[in-house]
Amino acid sequence: MRIPLSSPDITADDIEAVVSVLRTPRLSIGPKMEEFERSIADLAGVPHGIAVSSGTAGLHLCLRALGVGEGDEVILPSFTFIAAGNAVLYERARPVFVDIERCTLNIDPEQLERSITPKTRAIIVVHTFGHPADLDPIMGIARKHGLPVIEDACEAIGARYQGRPAGGIGDFGVFGFYPNKPITTGEGGMVVTRNPQMAHTIRALRNQGRRESDGWLDHRLLGYNYRLSELNCALGLEQAKRIDEILDRREALAIQYSEELQAIPEVTTPPLKIKDGRICWFVYVIRLNNRDTTLRKLTEQGIGCARYFAPLHLQPLFAPYANPRDDLKITEQVAGQTLALPFFNALTREQIHEVCGALRAAVRLKT
Ligand SMILES: Cc1ncc(COP(=O)(O)O)c(C=O)c1O
Repeated sequence: MRIPLSSPDITADDIEAVVSVLRTPRLSIGPKMEEFERSIADLAGVPHGIAVSSGTAGLHLCLRALGVGEGDEVILPSFTFIAAGNAVLYERARPVFVDIERCTLNIDPEQLERSITPKTRAIIVVHTFGHPADLDPIMGIARKHGLPVIEDACEAIGARYQGRPAGGIGDFGVFGFYPNKPITTGEGGMVVTRNPQMAHTIRALRNQGRRESDGWLDHRLLGYNYRLSELNCALGLEQAKRIDEILDRREALAIQYSEELQAIPEVTTPPLKIKDGRICWFVYVIRLNNRDTTLRKLTEQGIGCARYFAPLHLQPLFAPYANPRDDLKITEQVAGQTLALPFFNALTREQIHEVCGALRAAVRLKT
């Protein structure tokens, strides 16, 4: 793609940080992991961070640590990435999909409450595209029903809700560091929590079931190798130092897009501000009616763009979990309209101008 959809921002310092790990004998479970865990836990305003091999692994371990299992129900939005749905299926639990709010594209708290049954064991809230979900009512509902909340903050590092960091408000927060994320470790994720017992359990689960006091060949739990190497952690640590600069840069890009797109009435732009909060601009997603034609036209011109997201309840994988009670109208409607435009730190004003010009021509084409 001439203008890619996303592109990691790797500096000379990032490279040096990774190379310097290679000059040591500690390539896994070492000082960089501890430092990276501390830095992300601090960012989320909670005491515990557990580095894992991906955001998906982090979501999985939260459900496992909670003891979610066969026959249990887990509430989550359908308008999200596959990871949260898969984590529920890994534990043979049943995903219960809830619709989203049209403006923020985040889970609808009222429908969420209506979806709670005696079998509900957990709620996964996604901060979609880095826009914080409305956690006050959600936490109120969860507390009323005695349910734990997992914040899927994979797209929302550095976002803030009512002055508090996304990921640090629910019982668990999970961040993701895939290369399209504002901060990357190549592959990687982080679970954050205030609960010391849960932190302890998740630490063991990611390391083949070994408790911290156990020897290398002692395994108390059925665990996984979900560790994150020292190389990944060194990169993440270096990237995390620039989080404010990166988020400011991405916000400026989102503003530039929205200003240019005012001239195209067929396009709905995302909300730019949140009261008493901060959006983590992970992607810039617009809505428009002839999305598929536009997507094809932009791609033909070398402009990277994508449908974001395909609803989970419409995936063949989730067909067995279809629920006649489900009311996912907004999800289905919005998912046919969303288009992610090129969005990365090095994107220039000229490139935004070019994308918007190509978009203006494409949205008016009928086929
Ligand atoms: C909302 C959301 N949740 C979870 C994940 C999973 O993260 P990973 O790709 O690191 O497993 C992603 C990642 O892309 C995501 O966007």
